[in-house]
Amino acid sequence: MPKQKSWAEPWKIKMVEHLRMTTKDERIEAIKEAGYNTFLLKSKDVYIDLLTDSGTNAMSDRQWAGIMLGDEAYAGSRNFYHLEKTITDYYSYKYLIPTHQGRGAEHIFSQIMIKEGDYVPGNMYFTTTRLHQELAGAIFVDIIIDEAHDTESHHPFKGNVDLKKLQKLIDKVGAKRIPYVSMATTVNMAGGQPISMANLKELREFTKKYNIPIAHDMTRVAENAWLIRQREKEYENVPIKDIVYEICSLTDHATMSAKKDPIVNIGGFLATNDEDVYQQAQNMVVIYEGLHTYGGMAGRDMEALAIGIVESVSDDHMRARVGQTQYLGQNLLDFGVPIIVPIGSHGVFLDAKKFLPHLEQNVFPAQTLAAEIYIESGVRTMERGIVSAGRSKETGEHYYPKLELVRITLPRRVYTQSHMDVTAESIAAVYERRNSIKGLRFTYEPEYLRFFQARFEPIE
Ligand SMILES: Cc1ncc(COP(=O)(O)O)c(C=O)c1O
Repeated sequence: MPKQKSWAEPWKIKMVEHLRMTTKDERIEAIKEAGYNTFLLKSKDVYIDLLTDSGTNAMSDRQWAGIMLGDEAYAGSRNFYHLEKTITDYYSYKYLIPTHQGRGAEHIFSQIMIKEGDYVPGNMYFTTTRLHQELAGAIFVDIIIDEAHDTESHHPFKGNVDLKKLQKLIDKVGAKRIPYVSMATTVNMAGGQPISMANLKELREFTKKYNIPIAHDMTRVAENAWLIRQREKEYENVPIKDIVYEICSLTDHATMSAKKDPIVNIGGFLATNDEDVYQQAQNMVVIYEGLHTYGGMAGRDMEALAIGIVESVSDDHMRARVGQTQYLGQNLLDFGVPIIVPIGSHGVFLDAKKFLPHLEQNVFPAQTLAAEIYIESGVRTMERGIVSAGRSKETGEHYYPKLELVRITLPRRVYTQSHMDVTAESIAAVYERRNSIKGLRFTYEPEYLRFFQARFEPIE
């Protein structure tokens, strides 16, 4: 019997974008010029771009048609009202504040909710989310379950919150010092790992007792819904659309980087059920983003987003989306390459500590590995380890995260199965020569979100 490829795409290709093939010598020169940071490579020098799934998606013919319906009025664009209604219909939230992308919403929300000295517990940090919480005066506390830090644990819901850790924090600082719990669906930094509906319901009950709201980072909520359907028995026949709605209904506020799940190239929003937060956000958005009926977005972008939200909760779309990630992950496992298991939804994460066990974490194994993969084949990936973790505000020392990962992230509806095969084969080739790989050191380290712009040189 042939192996079933049940994840095949529910779309066909209408237009293509040419890719440039490069030689190994050209790539060695390009990565040197980029300071061994894949964020600093020029896209023309990249063959298969798996740096991120953020804003790199292919829009559908319907979304492009929606672009032509852009109402570019400064105030009260009809696309805003369409988007507002879509968000209430699909995500349940009552009020919408559009922003240019996710971090715009994180900034406004953190400034409204947090007072100096507060504590924000969350199911693992995300770079921009934690930075905005810290800039507003909070201390982030990780309350994700221990299994999330173990790359070999097969726990199906490594995004779950450990309520004992939350209780411990409440006992220590008091519920009044906790403005909200920061809960992400499909935890990016844990390797795209989901939270279960059962855990979210428990979190809801628990936080209700203490009157602590839940703020939902819903950047990849539909992907989380797909994994709930695959791994939580009572949801196996429930449509993604309904699971997404139920997740959102269990939370009070949400920030969204629309560049992911909703299959657009730019956009984001803050959504809330709290009228008071909404009013404050409406006032703040005009300072930092734009009028409250467009935030940082053009009318046409809001239209494409409204259509993308509907497409993102389609079962067929999500089966292919997550199926492609799982196909790549399984190929890597077959080559014996160490990756995070279970395979997540938006990408496959290489375990750089196991891939390059001879490198100490302070010579940046994941950063080094991402550079080597680029040199091998022109495939662009990114670091999610000590460089992304940054330094502690208090001690100035590096944070040493347990997870030292290279993220291979899949844009939505962009690459084919052959691209996945080439990617897996080229990573396997690097794995074969892993013992000869040396680490990196900083030549430039920016103060904030250093992984975006830092430069390195090889250690000889
Ligand atoms: C989980 C998560 N939250 C927030 C953000 C920030 O969103 P943006 O890049 O749109 O500012 C991202 C982006 O990568 C993300 O993955």
